[in-house]
Amino acid sequence: MRNLIDILDFSKEEIDSLIDVATDIISNPEKYSEVCHGKILGTLFFEPSTRTRLSFTSAMMSLGGNVLGFSNVSSSSVAKGETVADTVRMASAYSDIIAMRHPKEGAPIVASRVSSVPIINAGDGGHFHPTQTLTDLITIKRKLGRLDNLTVGICGDLKYGRTVHSLIAAMARYEGIKFVLISPDELKLPDYVKEEFLSDKSSYKEVHDLDSNMSELDILYMTRIQAERFGSADEYERLKDSYILTKEKLKDAKPTLSIMHPLPRVTEIDVEVDDDPRAHYFDQAANGRYIRMALILKLLAERQAPSKRARGEENPSLVCRNPHCITSTERGIKKLFSGNCCIYCDQTAVEK
Ligand code: CP
Repeated sequence: MRNLIDILDFSKEEIDSLIDVATDIISNPEKYSEVCHGKILGTLFFEPSTRTRLSFTSAMMSLGGNVLGFSNVSSSSVAKGETVADTVRMASAYSDIIAMRHPKEGAPIVASRVSSVPIINAGDGGHFHPTQTLTDLITIKRKLGRLDNLTVGICGDLKYGRTVHSLIAAMARYEGIKFVLISPDELKLPDYVKEEFLSDKSSYKEVHDLDSNMSELDILYMTRIQAERFGSADEYERLKDSYILTKEKLKDAKPTLSIMHPLPRVTEIDVEVDDDPRAHYFDQAANGRYIRMALILKLLAERQAPSKRARGEENPSLVCRNPHCITSTERGIKKLFSGNCCIYCDQTAVEK
């Protein structure tokens, strides 16, 4: 069965095809309005969401299907101590496909190992957010006409920003992509993301300053500083206003710049920028409905196809020490490694 846990579960050709289907849906919505009649999407949101949950709901309803689920763990038996695995076992008995968000990294892998229906990762902690990346890619294609030969500035919280990690993984596969990674030292891109996706060191630079790099960018992807992932409230307070995009800061930007943001926004884009024709973040969020419609159709059609994911092996001499990994909280799961890497969170494990 195919799942979408990590954006690299799909080839470039599959992503191109999803964008084509979503584009056709935008032009011909009536053609798709009953194609999921009788199908149910389960939405299991263990963490807050506006865009992802509502766009998945809208997507399934726009395909003629139904939706069940929870948007708050306090209204589910998770509040009584039920595991992720047991919650997903039950939801897969009641639905045909599941979109889930969880604060722990690797929780969708736990889900995919017990589910009888396709699992979509709708965001796992500070790790990955592959459906946001599909939303980003269709937006770039529609606004700029291509996914290659672009200089992509990514600014803000590159450490905990899961949308950033998935976007880099996806875009690094296209020709002529240069990344300008703009962050404070404390919020730099994690080593595991660089090692897995940016092996060509000439394809990126890491800088602190947004203003002096603005003029070379084709895309400026702003991100929120992720308060909920910080261990220290003082550290968050110190870093939260590291970057604030204003009209004044855009004076040296290209006229064709695409300003993107996965949203929600806090202070990092001043509202005065919303009127700039280069501000594409609300269109970006709107595209999420159509690309998620295409994704639901693809995964339902490929239920019988074999999974392409490597499964990992137990190794009693290794332990994952990442406190944000699902292995730190979920009872009864196998601790699996690929080499010395935890397969759930992709962090390097250590000898016991
Ligand atoms: N971009 C995004 O994931 O937004 P939500 O947290 O509102 O779903």
